[in-house]
Amino acid sequence: MANIILLGPPGAGKGTQAKRLEETRGMVQLSTGDMLREARTSGTEMGRKVAEVMDRGQLVTDEIVIGLIEEKLTRGAAGGFIFDGFPRTLPQADALQSLLARMGQGLDAVIEMRVDDAALVARITGRFTCGACGAVYHDATKPTAVEGTCDACGSHDLRRRADDTEDALKTRLMEYYKKTSPLIGYYWAKGKLVSVDGLAEMDHVSEAIAKILDKA
Ligand code: AP5
Repeated sequence: MANIILLGPPGAGKGTQAKRLEETRGMVQLSTGDMLREARTSGTEMGRKVAEVMDRGQLVTDEIVIGLIEEKLTRGAAGGFIFDGFPRTLPQADALQSLLARMGQGLDAVIEMRVDDAALVARITGRFTCGACGAVYHDATKPTAVEGTCDACGSHDLRRRADDTEDALKTRLMEYYKKTSPLIGYYWAKGKLVSVDGLAEMDHVSEAIAKILDKA
């Protein structure tokens, strides 16, 4: 069992690798992006505010995301947790440490997915996902076998995200460098940081992560 964080800018491949780890290792993905996308459809005032912030590419408040994670962390996962897109700020990182400690657990590794910003525009603007099962696709690098049908579950509910535009991506990257990248030094100082080449082919990235987990 291992608890890990996948850390990297938008489009680094965090969601893609988290889904693979769920399938291959029985780990549980906790994506604050997915939780917030669910919250924005709730029809509440909070959901409306969250939608506005996300569509601009800015970060939602620490209070909201920490609350969402806290709700999910009431008990452990047999294969361990994959934190995808959380933490994104230093207060979130401190909150995660406290929440895990309360469960008598800790973090085994923080995997930084290194990518080149130039590659991210193509990755983000070509991405689509399955609304039913969350499988991630790409127009050029990972199309569905049958157009309009999810390979994993057969659903026809394939969607593009409102924040997957070049303009919103610029804001998302600025937010990443200002507020999230300090976590690289934070976890390095704690001896938890390991980096992988996020620009490698998907299977090679999976192999690199598997090696890290085998040692954890
Ligand atoms: P979130 O949903 O977390 O988005 P993100 O971090 O911007 O990351 P993405 O989901 O865009 O990218 P990814 O790294 O998962 O890449 P993927 O695998 O899909 O957050 C969205 C918003 O919610 C934030 O902007 C913020 O507003 C809010 N939010 C969320 N968490 C928050 C928090 N903790 N605090 C505050 N606010 C928060 O891959 C991308 C594409 O590339 C896909 O098409 C895929 O097929 C392709 N691809 C993947 N790997 C490869 C590869 N190796 N080679 C070629 N193509 C690849």
